[in-house]
Amino acid sequence: MTGLADSLELRECCPHLVMVIGKGGVGKTTVAILIALELSRKGKTLLLSLDPARHIVKYLGLSREDLEEIEGGVHVKYVSVEKEVEKITSKYADLIRYLMPSLSVLNLDSVVDVVKYSPGVEEEVLLRKLEEALGSSYHYVVVDTPPTGVTIRTLILPRLYLMWLDRLIEIRERIVSLRYVIARTTGRKVDVRDRALLKLYEMRSEFKNLDSALSSESRSSYVIVATPEPLPMYELRETYEFLKKKLGVEPSLLVLNKVLPEELAAKLGVLDMQRSYLEELKSFGVSCAVIEHLGRPTESIHDIKALRGRVRVFK
Ligand SMILES: Nc1ncnc2c1ncn2[C@@H]1O[C@H](COP(=O)(O)OP(=O)(O)OP(=O)(O)O)[C@@H](O)[C@H]1O
Ligand SMILES: [Mg+2]
Repeated sequence: MTGLADSLELRECCPHLVMVIGKGGVGKTTVAILIALELSRKGKTLLLSLDPARHIVKYLGLSREDLEEIEGGVHVKYVSVEKEVEKITSKYADLIRYLMPSLSVLNLDSVVDVVKYSPGVEEEVLLRKLEEALGSSYHYVVVDTPPTGVTIRTLILPRLYLMWLDRLIEIRERIVSLRYVIARTTGRKVDVRDRALLKLYEMRSEFKNLDSALSSESRSSYVIVATPEPLPMYELRETYEFLKKKLGVEPSLLVLNKVLPEELAAKLGVLDMQRSYLEELKSFGVSCAVIEHLGRPTESIHDIKALRGRVRVFK
């Protein structure tokens, strides 16, 4: 039987990220688990949950939240965004202390307390987790993503940082060269190495690598999930446009989940809508799949596995 992961053209380059994106409740976690179970037959697989709702912990009956192995040899890791925000903001405070010792007169710990509630911090945490995953020893990392808006902002973050970094580097280079000229004219010794400038160069190269990994088909695949309803389908189109036009990648797989058997759909008066959404999905020209509704909500890993017999893939 053709599986969901068969339609992902995964290349040799390791590790490979599979990002599962979609509107809340459409079945991202369910699809991520199904894909991870399939991929684990081909290589060492991590299922990384970045979803603050922690549903994965419940579905898989996990006892711990850090790293656990489930059936099929899949490793599952749930990331607590709040805990990571603490770590990252303190790391930045340390960096500022190192680069600008003169700023230690400010109480940086109180700055950290405010920064952790700032917009964008969650995206920064998620980006760091994707970076870690790309540098891990897994062959595949399947990512169960947070709400679409957060995911999209995370994926575009390296480009935003690069715009800022280019500008900051320009300013810092000017400062360093002015310092040099002043020192030369006053006959003082100059150290041409500037910690802040070196750090900026390092960050620029880091974000360039990250941006190219996230937008390269050999390193990352994107799966968009929707249910046959107007809002999830709207979000699927928006996500497709974003990936294609802004990130420059073609999604690998579009999934229509919780599709009702035709007889039942006809009885409920939604058959035409369901059919037209499936036709629309096929018209994107990429692989797509349909997962039938189980008839009740999936409640355990066994229910999720039972969905495998209800998957139809269209190339
Ligand atoms: N094919 C299916 N048949 C029956 N129930 C399903 C199916 N797919 C998902 N579900 C159920 O739908 C609900 C949402 O699924 P899931 O948690 O996978 O979605 P999600 O997109 O990850 O949601 P969230 O945005 O809240 O994280 C769950 O109760 C799940 O058990
Ligand atoms: Mg989920």
